[in-house]
Amino acid sequence: MSLEVRCSVIPAAGKGTRMYPLTKSVPKELFPLVDRPVIMTVIEEARRCGIEQFHVVTSPRKPALRDFFTNADCESNPQDLPLPQVDLVMQEQARGLGHAVLQARDYVGEQPFVVQLPDDLYHPEDPLLQTMLDVHAVTGGCVVALMEVSAAEAKLYSSARVEPVELGAAAAGHGVFKLADIIEKPEADQVRSPYALMGRYVLDSRIFEILAQTPPGRNNEIQLTDALAAFAEIPVKEGGGVWGVVSRGRHFDTGNLSGYLQAQMELSLENPDFGAHLREYMRGLAGSPDGPGAAPTSTESAAGQGGKAGAC
Ligand code: UTP
Repeated sequence: MSLEVRCSVIPAAGKGTRMYPLTKSVPKELFPLVDRPVIMTVIEEARRCGIEQFHVVTSPRKPALRDFFTNADCESNPQDLPLPQVDLVMQEQARGLGHAVLQARDYVGEQPFVVQLPDDLYHPEDPLLQTMLDVHAVTGGCVVALMEVSAAEAKLYSSARVEPVELGAAAAGHGVFKLADIIEKPEADQVRSPYALMGRYVLDSRIFEILAQTPPGRNNEIQLTDALAAFAEIPVKEGGGVWGVVSRGRHFDTGNLSGYLQAQMELSLENPDFGAHLREYMRGLAGSPDGPGAAPTSTESAAGQGGKAGAC
């Protein structure tokens, strides 16, 4: 039986270059998602699983993130979101995800912990993280989220050799695999399986010792994947091993603009206060001759082709 998981590390010190120029002044973790910043949706996901302690790894280049967590004054402003206990952990330079997680070592101590990448967003009704915690209670070691991807997409993620395991009720209908031979962003001939590692992890604190000794890998960054590959080598009877839980719910990659806008649209349309009104509004737009998808007017099509409206 493994220890209860009480805290989450949220690495948020990356540069967000895929979202430039938006992220030049506003960290992507603070982008609005319907009625709250993205990072609050991630925090709420963990709170639904009973986690109340958060270590947000941030960077000196992101003072807005520090301000968000330190200037909250719920009593004087009833509109403010109630904040849980959040420690801000500084990563002076963006040296990779593994390096970011390592910065939280003294805050976490010797207990198992969750890592949530805030640009990887799961729908609020998705029980993935709770299932990962339930699986971890049975397996110990480390548990990661998996998603089935196409062969073309596999090179963008981490890949692992997988072997199915039967965990009964703990798996809550999710596929669970034991992982081996984990590799970061494989070349086409190195892809191990159709499953890629996603941005949710339940980690054994011994991962810190491994991270401290992990040399820079792909992109010259210290990769969490490389440390997981080493952890997978530790025998299960010594508390080692890495397991993967397959995500079945809706997932958004909010680290790129398209994924962020999809999350914004889907969650806005589901909002109990104004979702119905928005759906009506969008139906109107789609039905209107000037709405999205409407055929270009002769003026637009002439201009689009470099022609002059009205010229013949
Ligand atoms: P990403 O590589 O997806 O995010 O890292 P990024 O670096 O911010 O984005 P791009 O690629 O430049 O657009 C995954 C998560 O790990 C954090 C990021 O903030 C993101 O939440 N991270 C990454 C760190 O905290 N520190 C790092 O050195 C690298």
